[in-house]
Amino acid sequence: MAGLLLLAAALAPAALAGNGGFAPVSPESPNAERIRDTWVFVSIFIVAIFVLVEVLLVTFIWRYRRQRRERFEDGPQIHGSTNVELMWTLAPVVILFLIGGFVFYKLPGIADVPSASASGEERLEVRVTGRQFYWQYEYPNGAVAIDTLRAPAGVPVRLEVTAPDEDVIHSWWIPALGGKIDAIPGVTTETWFEAQRPGIYEGQCAELCGLEHARMLASVEVLPANEFASWLAKRESEQTRVELGEEEWQGVCAKCHGLSGEGGIAPRIAGSPVLTDPQALEEIVRNGRGEMPAVGSGWSEEQMDALIAYLRESPPSGS
Ligand code: CUA
Repeated sequence: MAGLLLLAAALAPAALAGNGGFAPVSPESPNAERIRDTWVFVSIFIVAIFVLVEVLLVTFIWRYRRQRRERFEDGPQIHGSTNVELMWTLAPVVILFLIGGFVFYKLPGIADVPSASASGEERLEVRVTGRQFYWQYEYPNGAVAIDTLRAPAGVPVRLEVTAPDEDVIHSWWIPALGGKIDAIPGVTTETWFEAQRPGIYEGQCAELCGLEHARMLASVEVLPANEFASWLAKRESEQTRVELGEEEWQGVCAKCHGLSGEGGIAPRIAGSPVLTDPQALEEIVRNGRGEMPAVGSGWSEEQMDALIAYLRESPPSGS
């Protein structure tokens, strides 16, 4: 018992620090901050109305309880009360106007993408494509990444979010960096963030998109600006091809076939000759076969080569 209490005492501060998952995560981008402000503002009314209703409920139950009145005898019937009727009409109207006004005041700061940071840093543009079941990022210099988006700190990042025509709707959402935005086949939507602090911000596809929706995680790794610049320059070059290949294996193949190719919702592929036969691999990844969708349709030659290079170097062992 004492042990349990000690354990609870040790865990409580940690749980409170992370607010136990009940409140929104701490915002790390100006748009996310404005969303949190709106949430707090609306919550004030929600809590006040909840308390008012519950207090009245308990008061009325107590005050107008049956006491010695006969079971089927009606209580006093009251008709019309101008003051009360005015109050319950006007109060909600005023509250709704306040909430609406506050939201419209905050909205431009949430939706509009800044063209540069306060210190004059040019913004970065990244194309985000949601596919079953991975996120693909394309940078202006042609560099590609899967599932983990790297971004520089202190720089506004504009995201063009879309999905291929033959895919389904996904939803991009990194709670600490802003609201949800749908990735819709054939349509391009936009959102943005500007993170001040380096770190890893986790998110999740927020639109049910198929069997592996729950594993369609996304994260943004914010790096100091100079570290980001060197990552971006390196990612585009030959040397890091295997790194991209590993991201592709983990993000695109392994979610269905298992991290070691041991199988999952899709068959075991460890030891399959296709993995080490560049032509056969490219054919099946680009065009799909049977139940397997064309997960790599539209991939560049470099992306294809990256997967081939990775699988040649570290073929999945099956266990
Ligand atoms: Cu993509 Cu859920």
